[in-house]
Amino acid sequence: VTGQGLQHLSTPVLLLDRDALEANIEAMAKSLEGTGVALRPHFKTHRCPAIARLQIARGAVGVCCQTVGEAEVAVREGITSVTLTNQIVDSGKLGRLARLAKEADVRLCVDHMLQIERASREATREGVEIGILVEVDVGGRRCGVPLGRDVPRLAGLAVGSEGLRFLGIQAYNGKAQGIIGTRGRTSAAAATAVRAAVARGLLQRAGIPCSMVTGGGTGTVHADTDSGVFTEVQPGSYAVMDATYAAQESETGYLGDQYHQAIFVLATVISTPMKDRIVVDVGLKSVAVDQGLPTVAHRPDWRFVSMSDEHGVIELPPGKTSSLGERLLVIPGHCDPTANLHDEFALVRHGRAEGMWPIAARGKSA
Ligand SMILES: Cc1ncc(COP(=O)(O)O)c(C=O)c1O
Repeated sequence: VTGQGLQHLSTPVLLLDRDALEANIEAMAKSLEGTGVALRPHFKTHRCPAIARLQIARGAVGVCCQTVGEAEVAVREGITSVTLTNQIVDSGKLGRLARLAKEADVRLCVDHMLQIERASREATREGVEIGILVEVDVGGRRCGVPLGRDVPRLAGLAVGSEGLRFLGIQAYNGKAQGIIGTRGRTSAAAATAVRAAVARGLLQRAGIPCSMVTGGGTGTVHADTDSGVFTEVQPGSYAVMDATYAAQESETGYLGDQYHQAIFVLATVISTPMKDRIVVDVGLKSVAVDQGLPTVAHRPDWRFVSMSDEHGVIELPPGKTSSLGERLLVIPGHCDPTANLHDEFALVRHGRAEGMWPIAARGKSA
C-alpha cells in the first residue's frame, strides 16, 4: 500500500490492506493444517466481525473475546462459538454471558470459586450451559491460579456445578509473547507448555477429564503448536500486525516476513515548520503509543519524535524533504488499542480504497 490513490480519504483514517490481511489469515491457517491444533483467533485485536468471519471461513473454530461487550457483538454478528479469555465476577455481566449461551457455544475462564458459583447461578437461571476453563498462571503473572491443588479443586467445583461444563485449561502466557529474540521466546514457550502439561496431569490424577488446553499468541504460536500440549491456540495480532511484532525475530528471520502489515493510519502532513521537522494529523486519538511511537511505512529513516492529541511530529533525516498535504502511512506500535480508536476500517486493495468495514465492537470494553 502507498498513500497514492487514497487522496480522497479524509485523514486520519484507519486503513486495512485486504491482500495483506488475507495473506496473514491464509499463512496462519496453513501453518496449523495437519497439526490437530485448533485455531481460535482473538477478536480483541480488531473488534471487527468481517475479519472474524474471514478467519472462520479459513478454518478458525470460533473466536476468543476479552469482554462480554465484544462477545455480544460477535454473537450478534453470527459467530457461534466464543471463549471469554478473561475472569468475570460481576453477576450482571455473567447474566449477559448466560443469555448469549442461548445462541452460541460460550466458554469462560475462571480462577476463583466465586466466579464459578456466580456463573453457575446465572447459567442455571437462564437454563443454559457455559463451558469452563480453569485459568492457570503459566508464567504470565496476570490472571490464573498457581500450579498446585487449586487447579483440580476449581475444576472439580466446575464439574459439580449446575449449568457449567468443565472443558480444560486456559494457559496463556502474555509475557512470553513480547520476548525479543527467538531463542528466549521459544524457551519461554517451552516452559509454558511444561506448566500447562503439569496442570493437565494434576487433573488426570484427580480423575477429571481435561479435553482442552488453550493459549498462545502471535509471538509463540508455532512453538505452542509444536509442543504437543495445546489443543487450541488463540493468536490475534497476526491478522493485522503492528510495528512491535514486525520487528520481532522469528524462526525464519522476522515475524514481519511471515505476517504482513495490514493496518495503517493514513496521515496528512499539515505543517512543515522546519526543514527537518514535519507535523502530521495523526496523534494520540488515532494511534496507540503504549508500545512506543509508530513508524512510517516506506520511510525507515523518518522518525516520530513526539505526539499529542491530534499531532505527530516527525524528524526527517538530512537531505529528505516533505511537502504540505503529502500522505503518509503510519504503522502503529500496537494494533489492538489502535483499532479501538476508530469506528471503521477503510479497505484498500492494490492501493485503491474499496469500501468500509465497521469496527463494531469498538469501545465495548464492559
Ligand atoms: C488471553 C489472550 N489470548 C490471546 C491473545 C493474543 O495475543 P496476540 O495479539 O499477541 O496474538 C491475547 C493478547 O493479549 C490474550 O490476552
